[in-house]
Amino acid sequence: MFISFEGIDGSGKSTQARLLAETLRAEGHEVVLTREPGGSPGAEEIRRLVLEGDPDRWSAETEILLFTAARRDHLEKTIRPALAAGRIVITDRFADSTRLYQGITRGDLRGTVDELHRLMIGIEPDLTLIVDLDPAEGLARALGRRGTEERFESFGEGLQARMRAGFHALAAEFPARCVLIDGARDPAAVAADIACTVRSRLSGGRA
Ligand code: ADP
Ligand code: TYD
Repeated sequence: MFISFEGIDGSGKSTQARLLAETLRAEGHEVVLTREPGGSPGAEEIRRLVLEGDPDRWSAETEILLFTAARRDHLEKTIRPALAAGRIVITDRFADSTRLYQGITRGDLRGTVDELHRLMIGIEPDLTLIVDLDPAEGLARALGRRGTEERFESFGEGLQARMRAGFHALAAEFPARCVLIDGARDPAAVAADIACTVRSRLSGGRA
C-alpha cells in the first residue's frame, strides 16, 4: 500500500507520518517512511536546491521540473523497490503538492504539472491523507521550528489559505483516494483517526 500525507506547511504531516509508521510497525507491517522533496540521495540533493535560498530563485516552470525530477528519482530508488518487496510506503508529500504549490500559485499551471506527471511518474497513492488546519495555526507551528528551508514558508499566510482551499478541492476531485483529516486536535487524537482510516483500507474497506 502506498500512502501519502498532504496539507499546508505546519499542519502536522511529518508528525502524523511518523506516528502512523510506528503504529503499523507495531502491528507487524514492514514500513518505509519517506518524504518529498527527497526520499533518495539524488532527490535529497534536489531538495536543497528548491527549498533553500531566495524565494524568487526559480520560476514556477523550473520548479515543476525540479520537483518532478526529484520525484522520479524517489520513485525509482525508493518507492517502487519498497512496494515490490511488499512494504507499506508512507510519504510525507507527493504529486498533489506539485499540483497545488506549483500548479496554482503563479498562474494556472495545473495542466503542465499533470502532463509531466503522466509522462514521468504515472502513479498515484492508494490513500492520500490530507491534514487540514487553519493557515494561521499552521504558520505559527511552522515558524516555531524555523530553519534554513524557508523558501515556501516565507510566502506567508495568504498563500497557505489558497493552499488549504486547493487541498479541499483536490479531496473533492479524487474522493476515492483522498481523506480529509481534522488536524486541529492533539497529535494522539489525529493519529487515532488516521490509524482507523488506514486499518479500514488495509482490510479492504473504503472509510
Ligand atoms: P508539517 O510536516 O505538516 O509541516 P510538523 O509535523 O512538522 O508539520 O508539525 C509542525 C510543528 O507543529 C512541529 O513543531 C510539531 O511538533 C507541531 N505539531 C504537530 N502536530 C501538532 C498538533 N496536533 N498540535 C500541536 N502541535 C503540533
Ligand atoms: P516540507 O518539508 O513538507 O515542508 P513542511 O513540513 O513545512 O510542510 O516541504 C517543503 C516545502 O516544499 C513546502 O512548503 C511545500 C513545498 N513543495 C512544493 O512546492 N512542491 C512539491 O512538489 C513538494 C513535494 C513540496
